Amino acid sequence: MRRIAIVVCLGFSLTWAVQAESKKEEADALKACAEVVIKGFRKIANSRDSRFNGKVDEARALCRGGQRALQFRNTPWVDWSNYWGSGGVESLPTGFLNNKLPAQRGIAGALIDLEQQRIELIKFNLFDNNQTYEGFIKGRAGHPGPTLTQWDALRLLPTNVNYKAVGGDGKQVCSGELIRWRTLTGICNDVFNPAMGSTGTLFMRNVEFDTTFPDLGKNELVRNRHGDRLGLLKPDPQVISRRLFTRTQHDEKSCNQGFGLPGAAVSANCDYEAAPFFNVMAAYWIQFMTHDWFSHMEEGHNDTSQWMNVGCETQLVNGVPQPLTREQIEKLGCRPTDRIDKSYVAESSDPDHFSANQKDYLSRAPKTFSNNNTAWWDLSQIYGYDEVSQHRTKRDPKDRAKFLLVDTGKGSGYLPVFDAADPILPQWKGQESAAFADNWTIGLSFLHNVFVREHNSFVDEFRKADRLKPTADSGLRNPANPKKPILNKDVSDEELFQVARLVVSAEIAKIHTIEWTPQLLYDEPLYRGMNGNWNGLIGDSDPLLSKILSDIITKGLGRSSSTKKNIGWYSVFASGPGIFGLGSKVNGYDITRPEMLNGGVNHFGAPFNFPEEFVTVYRLHPLIPDLLEYRDLQDPNRIAAKVPVVETFEGKATDEMRTRGIENWAVTLGRQRLGLLTLNNHPAFMQNIKIPRLESETQQIDIAALDLIRDREHGVPRFNEFRRQYGLRQLTSFDDFVDQHEPKDSAARRKQEEAVRTLREVYGQHVCDASKQITDAQRNEDGSFINDCLGHPNGSLIDNIEDVDTVVGWLAEYTRPHGFAISETQFVVFILNASRRLFSDRFLTSSFRPEFYTTMGVDWVNDNGPGPAQMEKGMPNGHKQLVSPFKRVLLRNIPELRAELENVVNVFDPWGRDRGSYYTLEWKAGPGAEGDPAFPKQ
Ligand code: HEM
Repeated sequence: MRRIAIVVCLGFSLTWAVQAESKKEEADALKACAEVVIKGFRKIANSRDSRFNGKVDEARALCRGGQRALQFRNTPWVDWSNYWGSGGVESLPTGFLNNKLPAQRGIAGALIDLEQQRIELIKFNLFDNNQTYEGFIKGRAGHPGPTLTQWDALRLLPTNVNYKAVGGDGKQVCSGELIRWRTLTGICNDVFNPAMGSTGTLFMRNVEFDTTFPDLGKNELVRNRHGDRLGLLKPDPQVISRRLFTRTQHDEKSCNQGFGLPGAAVSANCDYEAAPFFNVMAAYWIQFMTHDWFSHMEEGHNDTSQWMNVGCETQLVNGVPQPLTREQIEKLGCRPTDRIDKSYVAESSDPDHFSANQKDYLSRAPKTFSNNNTAWWDLSQIYGYDEVSQHRTKRDPKDRAKFLLVDTGKGSGYLPVFDAADPILPQWKGQESAAFADNWTIGLSFLHNVFVREHNSFVDEFRKADRLKPTADSGLRNPANPKKPILNKDVSDEELFQVARLVVSAEIAKIHTIEWTPQLLYDEPLYRGMNGNWNGLIGDSDPLLSKILSDIITKGLGRSSSTKKNIGWYSVFASGPGIFGLGSKVNGYDITRPEMLNGGVNHFGAPFNFPEEFVTVYRLHPLIPDLLEYRDLQDPNRIAAKVPVVETFEGKATDEMRTRGIENWAVTLGRQRLGLLTLNNHPAFMQNIKIPRLESETQQIDIAALDLIRDREHGVPRFNEFRRQYGLRQLTSFDDFVDQHEPKDSAARRKQEEAVRTLREVYGQHVCDASKQITDAQRNEDGSFINDCLGHPNGSLIDNIEDVDTVVGWLAEYTRPHGFAISETQFVVFILNASRRLFSDRFLTSSFRPEFYTTMGVDWVNDNGPGPAQMEKGMPNGHKQLVSPFKRVLLRNIPELRAELENVVNVFDPWGRDRGSYYTLEWKAGPGAEGDPAFPKQ
């Protein structure tokens, strides 16, 4: 009895203590909020060295996240992830008079920070290589650079077959047939800049040109930053790969270097760190996307006239490179005789200089590279990006509006296999037909089959409508006769094929924006942000987001102390359609008026293409497991085989797809978790892959090491300067990678500290010299220049943190916002470029209209398929939402999946996982999946 009384007493005083603490926190937070109101909006920076950096003042942190947000203000990582409501259930405030209000402040605060970052990224991180940069800095004919919308550098050349059609030597403007569809090579998306985003145009940059190619040591800041420590093979990429990328196996034999066991035996096992909230389908999705967006390679190879070594030669000993001994090579498992073909270079002559604002500028980077794909979201991996790739696709001879699918006796039809006449490399023989055929595996086979089926589903639905109402207006218009409605019955096969391409491309852009990304970044601010990104373009904007954006523009930019300097930016952001997105809902739309077609796009003064830095942050090879846990839809809770990914490579994918069946591959890719993007989590098979085209003794290559080499070839700044360039805080030692949220004695923390020790061994240390300024992108808080000592005493031994390769750096970021499958450094690159990819594309802004898509097509994209919009059951994470676009695609094209998808809200969340409450990351079985061996027994 006495014991009970003590417990009750203790419980009571504990509750009282918690209440008292909450009350104090609430009072402090409210006081801080009042202070924030008085301080007003943070202004958008006037110069790059006074940017936001994702760090707020004390009052803002306290107002938006209480004590927890204050606690981590001294780390280099962004503050918003510690605000109320920005994480899982634990981030929701307890004990407050009204718990909802602080959470709303937290989420709104996070959205403000993100929007502020985005605007400063647009302002400070656009560097085009196509000879337009001088105009961006100086302006033209009285117009500030950021407001320019047309550039001569993006005219079609006389060698282009459409040169005359767009105006030849005179003013070039696209019209007629060239403006109706997504063209093969991507020309005429922007009607005033025909070549923008087309195949073969140059990758741009997001970092100042003179920070690129640090290995070349072209200027004093770079030399001060890195000394002579960098080179193409310095530090040694294969040594980095083996020490910092290799997955640890508890049983090497059953993994067999990622090649598994004969017969796809279930007893095989390759350990990997898995992400609990993202599935393998999401991994293949992003490979599928990158094959649409960019490629440095041409027809599956680089410059085969030049072969180079790829390391496994040296390691640092006390900061000095020493040759590896035979024993060391054996122990590491690397291969000194591997070779690879060098990257193609478009231009390598010295760039021109120009001066403005008392400063000297480079007009482009010291070397440039072509994007051999269209940069638009146009599904060029399916439809083609030049004549050769288009020849690899196959139309259905019985209905030219469709793709050919063959009957293999299993359901709805599969992609046909390449035939002898197709323009393919020898290693692609036996693969299924696709425009982008390189690095083909079962995941790409799956997604290509699904979206080719989706193309045909749209055609079928249109033909159904045509049968029912042949004389109804399709919505489509031809600029040759713009007033005449094109009736359903008059839509030609070619027109319908091209409409289907527009519709499926937009559908994919939507899936990526509001389904894949919110699962990649699984928290409330990003759910809101990504939906706002899409709906701002296509439908009704989120009122909270609109208010935040207009506040930033009017209060942050408009009241800037240097309004004159900012005028260009003010007019860009305040101009409306592009950033608020609509532009497609204009009265009196006329497809013969180019200014209307293009009226909703916004390039912010720099023509659209991807930057090299974007490619870097998409080097996501750790996402792929070595072995696929094959499941059969009839018995999805059983792992029936462990299929090595390499056994699904190239032509082998065809057999796997057809014999096991697309519905079984769906549940296989849907249930398994993908690999976390972290150190020591690269697939073993990728470090040892055999590529028969390679001219080397081994014919093997370590793709993980190659990722580093390619970035060095492309002149990507190393991690710390990369962060500074993007307006993020620098690190001052390897210790900064350790996540301060982890308890001191936890296993996770010990593992991170171990990784820090390895980083120190691999990249080394040096005695610093405080007289050497190393950057002009940022300054110390006291306004002084950042020097080689990074705040440590002059002459002390400091980490070579400046030398860390960018991919290594972002993999080592253990501190991440809640639910982030990527790091904050990668994320900041996405904020900028993923937004631009939407804002710059007229087919996703002002040409998203029935005149191009048909009325059915516009509805199909908005409602996620035919018929009325369908609502998802319940309120996932508190939101009423449509059945997701990808779920509808799968239900339409693989109807066998209905039962399996019953409880799936987001197709990229591992099927079978209990989605639980508010953004949980818990790995727990949902209804019906309790018997699945991937989940711990409950
Ligand atoms: C089985 C799966 C995969 C294999 C075998 C594979 C293989 C390769 C190879 C051989 C390269 C070319 C290296 C070079 O010579 O430059 C490459 C490049 C690349 N891969 Fe993968 N990859 C796979 C999955 C992925 C995934 C899931 C992603 C995620 C986005 C990805 C992103 C990239 C990127 C961004 C490049 C650089 C492309 C460029 O430079 O234009 N890969 N991959």
